[in-house]
Amino acid sequence: MTTKIILDVDTGTDDAVALMTAALSPDLELIGATTVNGNTGIDSTTENTLRVFEWIGMPQVPVHRGMSRPLSRPQMTQINPATRIHGDLLDLPAATIKAQPGHAVDWLIETLMASDGDITLVPVGPLTNIAMAIQKEPAILAKIPEIVIMGGAHDHGNSTASAEFNIWLDPEAARVVVNCGRPIRMVPLDATHRALVSLEDCARLRALGTPAGEAAARFTEKRIEGYDATQPMHRAGAAPVHDALAVCAIIDPSVITTHFIPVDIETGGFLSDGRTVCDFRFRSRKPANVHFAMDADEPKFVRMLLEILGRTA
Ligand code: RIB
Ligand code: CA
Repeated sequence: MTTKIILDVDTGTDDAVALMTAALSPDLELIGATTVNGNTGIDSTTENTLRVFEWIGMPQVPVHRGMSRPLSRPQMTQINPATRIHGDLLDLPAATIKAQPGHAVDWLIETLMASDGDITLVPVGPLTNIAMAIQKEPAILAKIPEIVIMGGAHDHGNSTASAEFNIWLDPEAARVVVNCGRPIRMVPLDATHRALVSLEDCARLRALGTPAGEAAARFTEKRIEGYDATQPMHRAGAAPVHDALAVCAIIDPSVITTHFIPVDIETGGFLSDGRTVCDFRFRSRKPANVHFAMDADEPKFVRMLLEILGRTA
């Protein structure tokens, strides 16, 4: 039985691998993608998403353009569009297909309200679209079986010492989502940094001989160069592909290890703004609300990528 999902993306290089994995997996039915401001501006995250679907021969997957800035914070994108890990526009041919008319938030609401309550939301960028949809039409909550988020960090951040980028860019949106009352799995840096993809893996991806394998190899090699230069992992020549791990966790939940705990988002901190506050010892006396991943099965993750990205549309 396939799982219906909607991917909410700020396409960048790891979002691109997540989109291809979701679109090509026989275990998932990708209903559509919604785009949000994040790794780069909304025009580029939308163009990049369109490029990815066209590249793998799946132009029929609907793409809806979403929020161009955070709920209330000043407009920020990842440091600058030319970050060495993402860049601005993906190295793929310019899209000849267009985004669907209308706003992503409205499409999310319409689609969820018309559904049988069987569409999992998979946000892998800042949570602005999801929070806006919940605030605009709270009735969608009853229609959401699960939200699987790439975001957050317990041990260490990447945008600051305390915060991971997707949460840091729009902490108010993240707070709305983690407190929405629906089942939530979070795939934070604590898990994604334990599921690295290496240069040798990129050679294996390229050897698949598929459009998805080739693009995933190219994007991940760019990520590895950027990580080695700017935020080296525990081993050189390898990098996390954060968003793809969130997608793989839906296909095979055993690829991550989670703890069901109370999690909330710091929105008023000075040094800890945007931190996912993980209450492992239940000091807050609050009920658990998030299945928070603290580990991942790296060999299984790489095997899944090789298996799925070796497929064609
Ligand atoms: O911190 C990693 C996350 O921030 C990933 O989703 C990446 O694409 C960026 O959005
Ligand atoms: Ca992302």
